[in-house]
Amino acid sequence: MAIFEWDDSIALGIPAIDEQHKALFDWVNTLNEAVRDGDGSEAVGEVIWKLITYVTEHFCAEERLMISCNYPGLVAHRNEHDQFVSRLREIQVNFIDGHEMSKKILDFMVDWLVCHIKGTDQGYSRFIHAKAEKG
Ligand SMILES: [Fe+2]
Repeated sequence: MAIFEWDDSIALGIPAIDEQHKALFDWVNTLNEAVRDGDGSEAVGEVIWKLITYVTEHFCAEERLMISCNYPGLVAHRNEHDQFVSRLREIQVNFIDGHEMSKKILDFMVDWLVCHIKGTDQGYSRFIHAKAEKG
């Protein structure tokens, strides 16, 4: 069973970003499955690396979008992104050092993403939709 199932309650209504959010959860689910299935540390390490790469690319896409529409909350939003990426890098280093990829860490990733999407991401989403309505 997946650690997280996507549903429309966390959709922003910005198709490209929603697709990227779905893909983020797919990567967390893939990581969960790799750990659960007892895949070797090399295989799990590769999924962690791909997850971080995808998260970084996605955050860059969001930040480009916020810049393109002059979103005033960009700096605070980017700080949240940077903190999450730092935390993921710590998790990666700890894993390389031999710490297990625990359920607690996977739950942290899911909780952070859900909370960020439902809270912080909603901020720029509302801003963009309001701007589009004004024309
Ligand atoms: Fe974001």
